[in-house]
Amino acid sequence: RPRVLSGIQPTAGSFHLGNYLGAVRQWVALQESHDAFYMVVDLHAITIPQDPAELRANTRLAVAQLLAAGVDPERCTLFVQSHVPEHAQLGWVMNCLTGFGEASRMTQFKDKSAKQGADRATVGLFTYPVLQVADILLYQANQVPVGEDQRQHIELTRDLAERFNGRYGQTFTVPAPYILKETAKIFDLQDPAVKMSKSASTPKGLINLLDDPKVTAKKVKSAVTDTDTVIRFDAEEKPGVSNLLTILSTLSGSPVEDLERSYEGKGYGALKTDLAEAMVEFVTPFRSRTQQYLDDPETLDAILAKGAEKARAVAAETLAQTYDRMGFLPAK
Ligand code: TYM
Repeated sequence: RPRVLSGIQPTAGSFHLGNYLGAVRQWVALQESHDAFYMVVDLHAITIPQDPAELRANTRLAVAQLLAAGVDPERCTLFVQSHVPEHAQLGWVMNCLTGFGEASRMTQFKDKSAKQGADRATVGLFTYPVLQVADILLYQANQVPVGEDQRQHIELTRDLAERFNGRYGQTFTVPAPYILKETAKIFDLQDPAVKMSKSASTPKGLINLLDDPKVTAKKVKSAVTDTDTVIRFDAEEKPGVSNLLTILSTLSGSPVEDLERSYEGKGYGALKTDLAEAMVEFVTPFRSRTQQYLDDPETLDAILAKGAEKARAVAAETLAQTYDRMGFLPAK
């Protein structure tokens, strides 16, 4: 079975709709056909300051949400990044393989560091993508299911894998991004020119999966559309309506063309009402399942302990091979 690996940050509390449609939904599907490794990336989270109690709670919450979304520890390996020390260890090796200029060109770093200012942005934020490279290469992943915003980090992963292999001999699988065209980028409901995100979205434009379903329905109903009246997918001319069609199509399983046909002659209100209903139907059980996992910390810990053990077995082997290839003297 080909292998997939992906990660999600625990920083935000609730996952948002972009996280789910762009990534986690694919994680759930791929665990059926692939040898899947999924993790909550707490080492990445500390690239910006975190309150310790909040980080701990949000890490549990992220795991609970993954389980609620359908990530099944019987079908995949689910773990927390800091439980597997090899991530930081291979991260260092990859740092020493990455050009300073190469890292400086990462657009997410440029955006985030520009926002924070040169002295508040940490060196950890700078090497964030390099740690992500280590995450992926440790598991010899063939594919990495993510949203469009992660594409550049996967490109860097490919470059570094090839560089290492060229210099020290075949060691790492060169991974490919797994990005579904339709849901690669879910947009802010209030400003469909920007992607939905915790940091950039307006509160009204951001659908948190753990919001009260009534709030979610209200946000859908006040989504920005356009002054036209036709319900048609056109990302350039009608980004707001197209975003709503994408979301409804994915949640309902009806192709966009079928939706376009069924809304012929109907107004935006009808589309929003149906989408609000579909959203509420999705988030209501998601919320209660998340709560159930949170209420049972022993089960959650047991899942993570088993996940870490399975992950370490793979990661340790890759790291040992990497150290050997690079010429580190083995510890006797
Ligand atoms: P993170 O935690 O920001 O986001 C988790 C996943 O959600 C996707 N995503 C979106 N997809 C579509 N539309 C959106 N508006 C949207 N917003 C977020 C992201 O693309 C991502 O797939 N660097 C990663 C975490 C990471 C990782 C890894 C991923 C660490 N190590 C190794 C893959 C492999 C991140 O910050 O994701």
